[in-house]
Amino acid sequence: MNDAFGLPSRIVVLGGGSEIGQAIVAAIVAEKPADVVLAGRTPVTLPDVPAARSLERIEFDATATESHGAFFDSLFAAGDVDLVVLAFGVVGEQAVAEQDPAAAVEIAMTNYVGAVSSLTHVSTRLAAQGHGTIVVLSSVAGQKARRSNSVYGSSKAGLDAFTEGLQLASLGTGVGVIHVRPGFVKTKMTANLKAAPFATTAEAVATAVVAELGKGNRTVWVPAILRPVMWLIRAMPPRVLRSL
Ligand SMILES: NC(=O)c1ccc[n+]([C@@H]2O[C@H](COP(=O)([O-])OP(=O)(O)OC[C@H]3O[C@@H](n4cnc5c(N)ncnc54)[C@H](OP(=O)(O)O)[C@@H]3O)[C@@H](O)[C@H]2O)c1
Repeated sequence: MNDAFGLPSRIVVLGGGSEIGQAIVAAIVAEKPADVVLAGRTPVTLPDVPAARSLERIEFDATATESHGAFFDSLFAAGDVDLVVLAFGVVGEQAVAEQDPAAAVEIAMTNYVGAVSSLTHVSTRLAAQGHGTIVVLSSVAGQKARRSNSVYGSSKAGLDAFTEGLQLASLGTGVGVIHVRPGFVKTKMTANLKAAPFATTAEAVATAVVAELGKGNRTVWVPAILRPVMWLIRAMPPRVLRSL
């Protein structure tokens, strides 16, 4: 169960190698002991969490949706889950994805289909428990299609809308959904990309997320300035936007 400050006892990170996911876990266990489960495609490569009370590394592939039922049954059979961080994702290469249907589908399968499957399995099980929090790492890229990353952005737009719906559906169930819309975060995902304006760090995303734990449904923009910036960009006529 979460403590009086909303801090969880058993944390699961789906996409356990994610630098943002790791930063969120590190920020929590620095405050309070917790059991940590990192779930990823190659468990042996998943990192250490030195301050965790216990650490388990398990195999999980977001795109193998047919295996998700058994995976989440086993995860919840081992004990209550207080916090699930949906951290997996691929950015892909826009130029490749525009030409190669398989590359475009991989982005959509991971970021949207895999997330929809995982979130449905998780939210129903947390509601059955009667408590728990889900952190969903969406992106500002889902707010407006951009020439440089529209395939990735479309997958995040789908995830973003799904997460908004999940927040509505979770009302009264005891489950909170923290919907995170980071801008450009300096991690291995973006190592080969030119930093965008308002670029931030995984630690800054973690601080913003931890501040909202235990408060029910929340939507978090990181950095916060992106909320009005994206509002303005969405309000611009396409002709003006194209000229920028
Ligand atoms: N970095 C940014 O600028 C930024 C901005 C906004 C939102 N986000 C979102 O935040 C989340 C975390 O990003 P990050 O920057 O921490 O990226 P990251 O360090 O590259 O982590 C992404 C993780 O997703 C895992 N993954 C990819 N496909 C998977 C699959 N099919 N099944 C299971 N795991 C899979 C990767 O595992 P492998 O080691 O197996 O590849 C990797 O550990 C992502 O959803 C990303 O889209 C990132």
